[in-house]
Amino acid sequence: MIEFQNVEIKYNDFVAVEAMNFTVKEGEFFTLLGPSGCGKTTTLRSLVGFIIPSKGKIMVGGKDMTHLPVEQRKIGIVFQSYALFPTMSVYENIAFGLKVQKLPKDEIHRIITEMANKVDLNEQQLNKNVSELSGGQQQRVAIARALVLKPNILVLDEPLSNLDAKLRGQMRAELKRLQNDFGITTIYVTHDQEEALTLSDRIAVYNKGKIEQIGTPHEIYNKSGSRFVCEFIGDINRLNEPVLRQINQQTGRQFDLSKPGYIRLERISLSLPPAIHKPVCLKARVVENEFNGIYTKYTYDVDGVLIRNVEKNDGSMSYINGQEISLFLNADDIMQF
Ligand SMILES: Nc1ncnc2c1ncn2[C@@H]1O[C@H](COP(=O)(O)OP(=O)(O)OP(=O)(O)O)[C@@H](O)[C@H]1O
Ligand SMILES: [Mg+2]
Repeated sequence: MIEFQNVEIKYNDFVAVEAMNFTVKEGEFFTLLGPSGCGKTTTLRSLVGFIIPSKGKIMVGGKDMTHLPVEQRKIGIVFQSYALFPTMSVYENIAFGLKVQKLPKDEIHRIITEMANKVDLNEQQLNKNVSELSGGQQQRVAIARALVLKPNILVLDEPLSNLDAKLRGQMRAELKRLQNDFGITTIYVTHDQEEALTLSDRIAVYNKGKIEQIGTPHEIYNKSGSRFVCEFIGDINRLNEPVLRQINQQTGRQFDLSKPGYIRLERISLSLPPAIHKPVCLKARVVENEFNGIYTKYTYDVDGVLIRNVEKNDGSMSYINGQEISLFLNADDIMQF
């Protein structure tokens, strides 16, 4: 439905985004993920029409939109910089775009009542001032304001970043539910990898103005396409030469000893995993343990290389610093780039 074809975006001489190519399918929840300053907002701004690319095309539904004015694009926008009007009531905020369209008053009322119901805002809240609502409620107002205009596409730029951790988790679930209910094609920007993994159908991982990898959360996490992606997404172990050498010896594999191998924390186990053809066993010493309630995160020394894993606290066993243990892993889980 949305197609970026070789898009380049410049601020004066500075190339903020280059050779951008991706396609978003109808109804998809597509996330742009990457560190600060990598070009996520810039990409969104070009889709919305706030900025015109210096090269390439942006197609929507087969039509070239690259130069179309903002108001003709039918895109719902939830940007932080596109804040709610703080002195107006919630109702007036949601009604704003509809009034601009000069819809009759009772029609506006009907649309808003219906939308408020869908995003769980009650009548009392509708009559409040925006400034009297919590961050999460304001977020729902912003989404309602965008959705009443029946956009073809919804774009959200870090909509949850101002909220505290707990509310962010709640809003995340709510956002996902809303997107499911409306089935609207959504492009979402975040630098929070957990948010991206839980919400998205697919993720584009950005690095310095370019996309490093596009894939489902599973692909991005378990089959990272580059060193940058695997280090940016989630926690990971870096296996250096002494460990890789042992792994090669035990399995007959040929990991390149001049480069690190990467393995996720949960892929390393203190018990022999069933159904692995040739498990690797590493002699290790516990050097740190960090109790987290459900899990404990351990750090081990293996031949001078620090390796971490997480163990579920099921009440059976816990380990203390200095203890000698064996670590098991499957060489198939090691990524090397
Ligand atoms: N108006 C502007 N004029 C000049 N340079 C800009 C402008 N806006 C952004 N940039 C630069 O373009 C690059 C990409 O910025 P962008 O805002 O797209 O990053 P981002 O990925 O959204 O980052 P963040 O996560 O911090 O919001 C940055 O190097 C930034 O300094
Ligand atoms: Mg940004």
